[in-house]
Amino acid sequence: MPMLKLNDGNRIPCLGLGIWQIPAADTAGIVAQAIGLGYTLVDGAAIYGNEGGLGDGVRDSGVPREQVFVTTKIWNDHHGHDETLRAFDDSVARLGLTPDLVLIHWPCPARGQYVNSWRALIRLRDEGRVRSIGVSNFHGDHLERIIGETGVTPVVNQIELHPQFQQADLRALHDRLGIATQSWTPLGHGRSFDAAPVRDVVARTGKTPAQVILRWHVQLGCSVIPRSTNPARLAENFDLFDFDLTEAEMAAMAGLDTGVRTGPDPAHLG
Ligand SMILES: NC(=O)c1ccc[n+]([C@@H]2O[C@H](COP(=O)([O-])OP(=O)(O)OC[C@H]3O[C@@H](n4cnc5c(N)ncnc54)[C@H](OP(=O)(O)O)[C@@H]3O)[C@@H](O)[C@H]2O)c1
Repeated sequence: MPMLKLNDGNRIPCLGLGIWQIPAADTAGIVAQAIGLGYTLVDGAAIYGNEGGLGDGVRDSGVPREQVFVTTKIWNDHHGHDETLRAFDDSVARLGLTPDLVLIHWPCPARGQYVNSWRALIRLRDEGRVRSIGVSNFHGDHLERIIGETGVTPVVNQIELHPQFQQADLRALHDRLGIATQSWTPLGHGRSFDAAPVRDVVARTGKTPAQVILRWHVQLGCSVIPRSTNPARLAENFDLFDFDLTEAEMAAMAGLDTGVRTGPDPAHLG
């Protein structure tokens, strides 16, 4: 599995399983199945309500704990220094393991607490309670503020990213700051599956539209976390490493950007 080097010296897999909206009762089985297929990253969050299943799935897989990268996230109603510390402890208890990476799920600027939440994650890292700390859904000004006020740069910013919403400016800022980009809703609700640049790669390679789009994320230099509860699609989404998009195909994919999100604007959520 190709890995991205993080700015704290750790590494994160380029491909993982997202588990948003996977029912709690099904999560352990799907996580264990994915790990059995070779997945080495699982992206969870407190708000998904399935951290228990995530931890069980990692244990049930039989794969040594250190070979699986586990992410969780602090939800919006636990912003602030002490609340974030409490939320982290609660996540660890539900997971039954220590995550490799913890993220602030959304900046929630109206709450005015994300710098304090970030200070709490720095404390957890400095105390050796979590290896890597990052953020999700942060705009450039949110990133610059936490870095300016604490001197600590998040290792990852997990953001909405798919062919119709490519976030070129934010990705360029990540590159300048040394932050890895992780793509959520990477398949973009299938809205680009029939687009000509995707169809052309499908025709040339025999891969599926989802594989072409996931491979595009990897070639952009992102870590990508597609979700599936379907065993065939879990395997399909993992099978990305025997083909490439050419430079011309990557350029054609860039033309699919509409600048339109599927999710909320982080400036206004929470
Ligand atoms: N940080 C954040 O705020 C945030 C927000 C949203 C998501 N995320 C994370 O990102 C992960 C991925 O995003 P997502 O779950 O919204 O969307 P996604 O992974 O882009 O798409 C999932 C949907 O696509 C279908 N699908 C999966 N593989 C497919 C394939 N090969 N061909 C056709 N359809 C396929 C799935 O259905 P089946 O299950 O039937 O295959 C499911 O309906 C989440 O699970 C979560 O971990 C984070």
